Amino acid sequence: MHIVELLDDLRGQCRAWRAAGERIAFVPTMGNLHEGHITLIREARKHAPRVVASIFVNPLQFSPTEDLAAYPRTPERDAALLTDAGCDLLFTPGVDTIYPHGQETHTRVEVPGVSDLLCGASRPGHFIGVATIVCKLLNMVQPDLALFGEKDFQQCLVIRRMVADLALPVAIITVPTVREADGLAMSSRNGYLTAAERARAPVIHRALTAAAQELCAGTAPPEAEAQVIAAIADAGLRPDYVSVRRAVDLGQPTAADRDLVILAAAYLGRARLIDNLRLIRPN
Ligand code: PAF
Repeated sequence: MHIVELLDDLRGQCRAWRAAGERIAFVPTMGNLHEGHITLIREARKHAPRVVASIFVNPLQFSPTEDLAAYPRTPERDAALLTDAGCDLLFTPGVDTIYPHGQETHTRVEVPGVSDLLCGASRPGHFIGVATIVCKLLNMVQPDLALFGEKDFQQCLVIRRMVADLALPVAIITVPTVREADGLAMSSRNGYLTAAERARAPVIHRALTAAAQELCAGTAPPEAEAQVIAAIADAGLRPDYVSVRRAVDLGQPTAADRDLVILAAAYLGRARLIDNLRLIRPN
């Protein structure tokens, strides 16, 4: 696997692959890789002969009170995992490559509407940071397709909308959440949990699963949301939000909407955990 820090080196290699007629799949990450990321790389390999990953802990998507400085950085381990998974090139740009004149005056990409609710309401500016870096990385790599994990359901919708609105020539593929044996969604932030917290964390997935069954049996969304909030709080987590939404655009569902997603965010110790479950309500 090639590891490149500089844009010219990235572009040179990608240009050579394209000239040889080879499609490129791209998996952007912030590093500290786990099985969820590796699943994206393996899926990418099915779609294209060349796979590019990036590791960049993007300061623009963290608010000043969030965990940018503490965010786990494990570069050697990440490179070994990517090599084993069959990644061809790892792009590890420095902050100066991404924000050459500083992030404050850098052009931003904003996807209004879908960015403003749920995680966007709790983390103002977060999705501007995400859309900006993903747009920039897509322009740098110019892949045929890019892959994202569905644990970040709202992020996937923001990126799809950005790609559609800006007519970016890239296909977006989303991949189901990878879970630990007890149901906890894999996340780099799970590493913040103490052993006692880790034992409680699966309550989110359990509660979402129970709520999805209730919704399919006819329970109204506010009641299902209240049940999840109670279960999460009983286990000692601090719920941020629990919300049943239309899966297509995260709008408030009407009784006629069938394709739904129930999303949750909760604080546990130093970690803010998110998860979601998609469900099709029967007629
Ligand atoms: O999901 C993530 O890890 C990040 O938000 C992403 C897409 C790599 C952008 O920094």
